[in-house]
Amino acid sequence: MVMTIRKQAKPIHNRSKRKSNPTPNNPKTNKNKTKKSISERHRLLTNKADIISAIKNISKEDAIADFDKLCGTNCKTINPASKVGNDIMDHYFFRHRIETKSKRGINYFDWIKTDWKKNEPEYRLYKVNLAHGKTPEKARYGVFRLYYGAVHGFKPLIARWLYCKYKPNTKHAILDFSAGWGGRCIGALSLGLKYIGIDTNTDLRGDYDRLTRDLLQTHTSRTSYKMLAPPPPELVFKDSATIDYSAYDYDMVFTSPPYFKKNRPTEEYAHMPQYTSREDFNTRFLFPAIEGAWTHLKKGGVFVLNVPMDVYDEIKGAKILPPLFAKHPLYIQPRFAKGNPTGKTEQYKEYIYVWKKI
Ligand SMILES: C[S@@+](CC[C@H](N)C(=O)[O-])C[C@H]1O[C@@H](n2cnc3c(N)ncnc32)[C@H](O)[C@@H]1O
Repeated sequence: MVMTIRKQAKPIHNRSKRKSNPTPNNPKTNKNKTKKSISERHRLLTNKADIISAIKNISKEDAIADFDKLCGTNCKTINPASKVGNDIMDHYFFRHRIETKSKRGINYFDWIKTDWKKNEPEYRLYKVNLAHGKTPEKARYGVFRLYYGAVHGFKPLIARWLYCKYKPNTKHAILDFSAGWGGRCIGALSLGLKYIGIDTNTDLRGDYDRLTRDLLQTHTSRTSYKMLAPPPPELVFKDSATIDYSAYDYDMVFTSPPYFKKNRPTEEYAHMPQYTSREDFNTRFLFPAIEGAWTHLKKGGVFVLNVPMDVYDEIKGAKILPPLFAKHPLYIQPRFAKGNPTGKTEQYKEYIYVWKKI
């Protein structure tokens, strides 16, 4: 087993420290040096920035190239499993996702400080990941994703598909009242659409600014994108339940709001207001934000939410929106499709719900 790991894993760090050419006549020294070299090769990083770039090492150039690919994607033939658009989102926002407490109530950096290697299934999976050629950092992150839950962004490609389908008018904006990790903003920019994002997480401000600067200023020389000439996205760092929506001009609402379990949010975002229960969350955030955003949506516009089925049922029960206009299944990577709380063998399903303002 150890042999396999040594042979197949491709560590990206500590290479310079590796000793070479052990003395041929001293098998004892040789053995020690080989052992040291293995443990060095598998030594895991501790610095946050190093860990982040070892897991997702996406340069700005690669991110922009990915955005260009997104801009060139034909909406009519989009493959929902394609990863186009993920690199640009991850370049700017992955570091926020990995800091977020997952559905198991722990974030990645707190988990790596635990004795996870003493948990047999977790350590076994780590070794399997290494044997499959993953670097130690990616192997460890793979364990977290599987056992503690990945914190997903909304794919820019799916956002782009939805905008193409419902065709918001370029004169107005798309309003997103829980903007999160940039997926719906990037999708809008890829089509030259105006985007307004609202979010309480002020930590995101710098990366939205960087995204805007990089895409709209530095790279406007690319002819195809220049033709789109999108206005810069507008980000508002406030509680969406307290926004005066009459101040904004939008003909599409599209968001994936936070979800709440019985007593705590499914994922815990930085600077998120505290709610004591799901009822409190619905009463003080979800329902007022929906009602406010719906009230000032332009006539003929669409209101689109990506929420789990039980949240949809609650929204329906609250009678704050008219009957549903359409619903689209959300593509979920098969790896993460299991774990349906209502039955472990059933595939987890989620939808994008659409209401139309007539
Ligand atoms: C990250 S999204 C959910 C994940 C989703 N899949 C995505 O990226 O589209 C949820 C966002 O809602 C934000 N949020 C939470 N409470 C809020 C509130 N009261 N007002 C505005 N935004 C809020 C969080 O900061 C978080 O960024």
